[in-house]
Amino acid sequence: MEFIDRYEEVIAQAVQKYMFRNQPSELYEPMNYIISHRGKRLRPIMVLMANELFGGEMSKAIKPALAIEYFHNFTLIHDDIMDDAPLRRNVPTIHTLHGINTAILSGDGLLLKAYSFFEDLEPKLFKACVRIFTHTGILLCEGQQYDVNFETQKDVTYEDYIRMITYKTGILAAAAFEIGAIIAGANTEEAKAIFNFGKHIGIAFQIKDDYLDVFGNMEQFGKKHAGDIFENKKTILYLLAREYATAEEKNELEFWYAKKTNNIDKIYGVEKIFRRTKIDQKVLALIQKHNEIAQGYLDKINVSDEKKKPFIELANYLLKRES
Ligand code: IPE
Ligand code: IPE
Ligand code: MG
Ligand code: MG
Ligand code: MG
Repeated sequence: MEFIDRYEEVIAQAVQKYMFRNQPSELYEPMNYIISHRGKRLRPIMVLMANELFGGEMSKAIKPALAIEYFHNFTLIHDDIMDDAPLRRNVPTIHTLHGINTAILSGDGLLLKAYSFFEDLEPKLFKACVRIFTHTGILLCEGQQYDVNFETQKDVTYEDYIRMITYKTGILAAAAFEIGAIIAGANTEEAKAIFNFGKHIGIAFQIKDDYLDVFGNMEQFGKKHAGDIFENKKTILYLLAREYATAEEKNELEFWYAKKTNNIDKIYGVEKIFRRTKIDQKVLALIQKHNEIAQGYLDKINVSDEKKKPFIELANYLLKRES
């Protein structure tokens, strides 16, 4: 998509400009490593999109966009430790290469650097952005803790799951749009509408992430196949499979999710149940549902349809994504 390429280029240049050149290299190299292995750059793109939607100047939104991207990369480093993940963006994770201590510290470094990207904003905007940012970070921690708790919790409900993914993923996308909007001078109602658009796009995004863990192509997705099954994650796949499983299949699911093991039979067994219960179609329908809720919030914003087009294109692109 043309508008995405345009924003990506701007972000790539800004990232290049702020590469770390400090010592000790043991700390800064991992920070450069994760930041320069790109990813989709969705969240900074969201900041720039919302800023443009409400008529803001791009130059004012670039550093706040980087704040969101650096923050996102910090969460990924720590998430990969928590999830025991060997691979991200098709390259080894930082704790795999440099150990957990360096991964914790370089994550912390990115988080702190992220805050510094708000420094140029005028005091009123600075305060508003930092408030959103901090609140978002705290909710993200809550979501991550639920995610960990659910690994050993048996009775996780659909509502529990939606709350968990809203916090760990939805709110950051929402905040990216909201920050872009307020930097452009959007009013509270408009900022809330674009926040809610982002929240539901983010929920749909995490559901698709859970789907790709099993139904994606590992090369394209860039992460270990079925990592969530190995880690006993109570994803939407697990919840739906449990709902549609026979009594025997339910017992088998419970058996496999009661322990952590590298036994490949676990993956065969669980994936067989996922396929037998045909949950893939149900999951895709749920993603579609959240996309539609998201698009409903766009209708509340009083700008031309032409200006809203990139938002609909982004939502549709995320529906189809394989990486
Ligand atoms: C990964 O996010 C973490 C989730 C919320 C699922 P992305 O899939 O946006 O990661 P990158 O930045 O594109 O690699
Ligand atoms: C991502 O959830 C949430 C955050 C990084 C905050 P996942 O654990 O599913 O993300 P991936 O699959 O490792 O990217
Ligand atoms: Mg993870
Ligand atoms: Mg995780
Ligand atoms: Mg995942």
